[in-house]
Amino acid sequence: MGVTIMAAFKNILVLHGPNLNLLGTREPGHYGVATLEAINQKLADRARQAGVKLACDQSNVEGELVNRIQQAQREDVDFIIINPAAFTHTSIAMRDALAAVRIPFIEVHLSNVFAREEFRHRSYFTDLAVGIISGLGGKGYELALEYALHDAPGG
Ligand code: DQA
Repeated sequence: MGVTIMAAFKNILVLHGPNLNLLGTREPGHYGVATLEAINQKLADRARQAGVKLACDQSNVEGELVNRIQQAQREDVDFIIINPAAFTHTSIAMRDALAAVRIPFIEVHLSNVFAREEFRHRSYFTDLAVGIISGLGGKGYELALEYALHDAPGG
C-alpha cells in the first residue's frame, strides 16, 4: 500500500528558456554538469510517484515560450516552474503572457543571479512569481516541484 499525496497542484509545466538545452557542457562553473534531460527525468520521476501530470519544455525562441505559456492555460495547467534564462532580464512578452494566463509560478535559476553581473539582478518575473529559487543548481527545480506538490496557495 502506497502513501497517497494530496498534491496541491496536479498539472504542472516546467519551462526552460534559451541555452538551457546546453546544460551539461555550458559554463559548468555557473550551471553545473547535470544535463537538461537528467534534470527533467528527476522531475518526471517525482511527479509520477506523486501521481501528478508534469510536462517539460525548452525553447531558445521567445515567441515559442509565449505560445507555450498561452497553451498551458488551454491545457488547464495549474502551476508553472519556469527558468526564463536570459529572457528573465529582457522579456516583457513572457511576463505579460504569465500575467495573462494567471497561472501561479515559481521562477528558478540554477546560478545565484544576484551574485553575478548587475544586468542579471533585474527580473521581469519576480514580482509576479509565488517565489524565486536562485543558486541551488538543478536542486532548485526539485524544491519548486516539492512546493507545488505540498503547499496550497496561501498555505
Ligand atoms: C539563468 C541565469 C540567467 O542570467 C542566464 O541568462 C541563464 C541562466 C540561471 O539559470 O542561472 O541563461 O537563468
